[in-house]
Amino acid sequence: MRITIMTLFPQMIEQAVSHSIMGRAIEASQVEIRAVNIRDYSNNKHKQVDDYPYGGGAGMLMKPGPVKWCYEAICESSPNTKKRVMYMTPHGKPWKQAMADEFAKEEEIVILCGHYEGIDQRVIEDIVTDEVSIGDFVLTGGELAALVITDSIVRLLPNVLGKQESFQEESFCDGLLEYYHYTRPAVFEGKEVPEVLLSGHHKNIEKYRRQNSLENTYKKRPDLLEQVQLSVEDRKFLQSVGYNNI
Ligand code: ADE
Repeated sequence: MRITIMTLFPQMIEQAVSHSIMGRAIEASQVEIRAVNIRDYSNNKHKQVDDYPYGGGAGMLMKPGPVKWCYEAICESSPNTKKRVMYMTPHGKPWKQAMADEFAKEEEIVILCGHYEGIDQRVIEDIVTDEVSIGDFVLTGGELAALVITDSIVRLLPNVLGKQESFQEESFCDGLLEYYHYTRPAVFEGKEVPEVLLSGHHKNIEKYRRQNSLENTYKKRPDLLEQVQLSVEDRKFLQSVGYNNI
C-alpha cells in the first residue's frame, strides 16, 4: 500500500512515521508513506498558499490552486492506481475501526491536511472522496489526524504486526473492549494476577477473558454493547454484573 499525505508540514509526518511499528513497516517495504509539501505547488513567487476569505471573517484559507496542482502531481506519479482521497476535518465521518479495516484493503490512499481556517471548498469537492474526523474537537491542522489514521491502517497490513493473533482478540475487533492483560511478576506491590490466568486451563481462561471483555465494555463504553451480537451466556453474565438493558 502507498499512503501519500498532502501537507504544509511534511516534517511532522516524516518524523512521526519513522519510528516504532510504522518505521519498521516502511523499512520492510510493507507500506510506502510519502509526505508531499503543498507549498511546492504554489505558483506565487513568495510560495504563498493562503488567502483572505471571500465574504470576510477571521483567519486565512488555503487556496485551491496549490492543493489541486499537488494532487495532479501525485496522480501523475502513479497514474494507474485508483485513489481514495481523505480530507481530515471535524466535518468528516468519525473514524472507526471498521473504516480502518476497509481502507487497509486499498492500494493507494491520499490524505489531505488542512490548515488555517480550512481549504477553499471548490477543490475539496473536486478531489476528495472521503471526509474523516478523529473526534469532536478542533485541531490546529490535519497532520495529527492523518497520523492517527495512518497508524490505524498500517498496523492492519499483512505481516506488519508480529503475530496474527495480536490483532485478532483486541478492542473493537468483535465490537467489545479488550480484556485486561497481566505479565510477570505474579504479585506486584501486593496485587495478584487473577488466579485463573495462572491455571493453564485454556477453556477457563477463554471464558474469564470473554467475561472481562464484556464487563469492561459495560462499565466503560456501554454504548458499544448495543451493536454487538451477544450469546445467551454473554447476556446472563452481563445481567449478573448489573446490565439490565437486554
Ligand atoms: N482537523 C482539525 N480538527 C480535526 C479533527 N477533529 N479530525 C480530523 N481533522 C481535523
